[in-house]
Amino acid sequence: MQPAGPAKFVDVSRMLTVSDAVLQGKILRGGMGTGMPEFGSLYTEDQMWALVGYIRGFVFHK
Ligand code: HEM
Repeated sequence: MQPAGPAKFVDVSRMLTVSDAVLQGKILRGGMGTGMPEFGSLYTEDQMWALVGYIRGFVFHK
């Protein structure tokens, strides 16, 4: 099921079940059919995984 709005990176139950590959995939390709844009060519490989790690940190800053 698609979440209704932008992702809630502070949602612990979501963030515990979503894989790095899914987070990376959505940054790359966007959430098809949602408002989430695709950032495919914007980031280098290193920046992409740094961003995934950064997003994971939000859960600790509620
Ligand atoms: C640097 C900017 C952004 C980053 C890094 C980012 C990252 C992400 C990630 C990783 C997800 C997947 C979350 C998950 O599956 O649990 C997501 C989902 C989503 N984002 Fe973004 N996002 C950005 C900007 C935006 C903008 C500008 C919008 C809308 C105007 C947006 C709307 C959404 C929506 C609607 C979803 C849910 C779509 C889905 O689950 O398929 N995002 N975002």
